Amino acid sequence: MADKITNIANDNAPLTGHAFDGIQEYDNPLPGWWKWLFIATIVFSLLYWPYFHFGAPGRSASERFSVAIAENMRLQFAEIGELQPNEATLVKMMYDDGWVKFGESVYRANCASCHGLDGGGIVGPNLADDHYKNVREITDILNIVQNGAAAGAMPAWKSRLQLNEQILVSSYVASLRGSTPAKAKGAEGNVIPPWPAKPADAPVNDEVNSSNSEPVQ
Ligand code: HEC
Repeated sequence: MADKITNIANDNAPLTGHAFDGIQEYDNPLPGWWKWLFIATIVFSLLYWPYFHFGAPGRSASERFSVAIAENMRLQFAEIGELQPNEATLVKMMYDDGWVKFGESVYRANCASCHGLDGGGIVGPNLADDHYKNVREITDILNIVQNGAAAGAMPAWKSRLQLNEQILVSSYVASLRGSTPAKAKGAEGNVIPPWPAKPADAPVNDEVNSSNSEPVQ
């Protein structure tokens, strides 16, 4: 019977000497390099696991990720420092395209799920129209962002975002007013007065304009 078996591996390999239902097994061990590689991965894991999970604090991937994020944010914020949570800052940042973009990234990550990517509103109200439920002045936006509203239906972000992020996302939300979302939720609340006008010291946003606006010698 054994001579009918097609041996695809090695015709000269010795048999192991045992048979199951007449089927015999060749003794074809795995190559040495393969076994050593396998053993090496086990040894590696025995070193890797305690090193990253029980070693000094800060070694795990998630901890290093948080540190990298914090460092990145520190670098970005080096330019503006610690923002003051007041009307002047909110208005100034609302007119600064660069920081509005930063606010938008905070918004997309944390707020878009309830307010829509373009602020048209889903669970949360439309942030692009002139109607507001809890907001009368621009500073009320920051207050709602920090402390939440409607018993947590709008979550409080005070301990979840850095103060600069809270301020910049509020300026971004303010900047949404007057835009036209793709799918706008119906108006809720009251019409409120317009935001304060663009301050005289607001940054020049358009790069082309700012380079053009330099005095011609
Ligand atoms: C879990 C859903 C949810 C998330 C996430 C969320 N919101 Fe809200 N938000 C709401 C709801 C619901 C309301 C309405 C509260 C009420 O009825 O008074 C609201 C209200 C607001 C208001 C006041 C609007 C008004 O008309 O008075 C602002 C401003 C706001 N949210 C901004 C944000 C920002 C900025 C973020 C992200 C940092 C955010 N929201 C994340 C659900 C959410």
